Amino acid sequence: MNDLSFFLPCAAGVEEFLAQEVHALTGRAGQDLLTLRGGVRVRADWRDALKLNLHSRLAQRVLVELAHAPYRNENDLYAIASGVAWEIWFTPKQTFKIETTAQHSPLQSLNFATLRIKDAVADRFRAKANGVRPSIETQWPDCRVFAHLTTDSCTLYIDTSGEPLFKRGWRQDKGDAPLKETLAAAMLAASGWWNPETGTVSEQPLYDPCCGSGTIAIEAAQIARGMAAGALRRFGFEKLLPFQAHVWAAIKQEAEAAASDRSVAIFGSDVSHRMVDFAERNAERAGVAQAIEFRGGDALQRMPPVESGVIMLNPPYGERIEVGGVAGTGRFGARESAQVERGAEGDGGEGGDGGEFFPQLATHWKKNYAGWTAWVLTPDLKLPKQMRLKESRRVPMWNGPIECRLFRFDMVAGSARK
Ligand SMILES: C[S@@+](CC[C@H](N)C(=O)[O-])C[C@H]1O[C@@H](n2cnc3c(N)ncnc32)[C@H](O)[C@@H]1O
Repeated sequence: MNDLSFFLPCAAGVEEFLAQEVHALTGRAGQDLLTLRGGVRVRADWRDALKLNLHSRLAQRVLVELAHAPYRNENDLYAIASGVAWEIWFTPKQTFKIETTAQHSPLQSLNFATLRIKDAVADRFRAKANGVRPSIETQWPDCRVFAHLTTDSCTLYIDTSGEPLFKRGWRQDKGDAPLKETLAAAMLAASGWWNPETGTVSEQPLYDPCCGSGTIAIEAAQIARGMAAGALRRFGFEKLLPFQAHVWAAIKQEAEAAASDRSVAIFGSDVSHRMVDFAERNAERAGVAQAIEFRGGDALQRMPPVESGVIMLNPPYGERIEVGGVAGTGRFGARESAQVERGAEGDGGEGGDGGEFFPQLATHWKKNYAGWTAWVLTPDLKLPKQMRLKESRRVPMWNGPIECRLFRFDMVAGSARK
């Protein structure tokens, strides 16, 4: 198969890092690799698509662009979709699904637009395959088609990923608000701990003191060992016609051979013993149980696991995940907090609203973590003020639809803002 045009969507703010990662994985650059808003477009070959799916830690999906044309109404969409050689990609015996997204589209109904595209795909198959047409399956389709509409242009893609790529295949134990693996990887890239261009990681120990289900620590440990992000999962391309099992087997073997048992010190802790248990089981499934040390404990009381390093966390915030431990005296009062401390309440995540937690965390860090650098992801843009710390960097990031900042605090003795 010749070069194809791929679009790899990612969270806003992550595009540059994704472009570096795609460059490292495909060797493409210049006009072949464009950093766009919300993703990266790369001209590459089919084999690259398999590699990108297997290795990318930052992309949400790998899509093949099959048509890009102007449209004014639904009939135009029908015509554009009729002109695509869908029969190269799947058979009429397989199921499919169309997902349409739009930015400022003049069309009244996206459902109707989706229906017309679906009709065009089905009619094309019927004409080519003696009246047989593929059926729609909305939950577990064999093949996903994405349509993106702007004010005046329509782009059609076939998806090669299947389930979104943040699903690495190791998570069974979720906890309440797990970070997406892609976002954890973006935090590691933005902090410089991981360089997606060179694939290298820092020598600095990494510690997540509110580790929940362990996402940051597990992602970091897999990166440090050069493990492929998607080694444990299946992909959409396995059901597409260009798929060749022996090519895929060779790519996976190459990836396995490239992994090492290099270890960087990585630590995680959480006030909830239930979460620590989840994190340990997740790390086991992810193949990095030996590379991470998880412990229970309140972030306000835990002492540094090593002399210095990098702290990275998305702390409890808002209603879904409340602060537990000594500062968690809000909703349930001190008695509940004490129970959380001992892990007696099952999920220790509950407690106060964080009002006292952040100033106390800053005090604890200033006193005991001098020499550490802390990276904190939060939707609370006033967090530095609340912590009475001056950030040395702020990186905009999106946690799904929630705008966040990744703040960097350098914990030098006397870094307090009076
Ligand atoms: C937003 S979640 C972190 C999610 C995590 N990054 C993941 O991917 O699963 C916040 C975590 O902070 C924990 N937590 C709440 N109060 C804490 C405290 N005082 N000390 C340590 N952890 C605490 C909660 O149990 C919860 O697991």
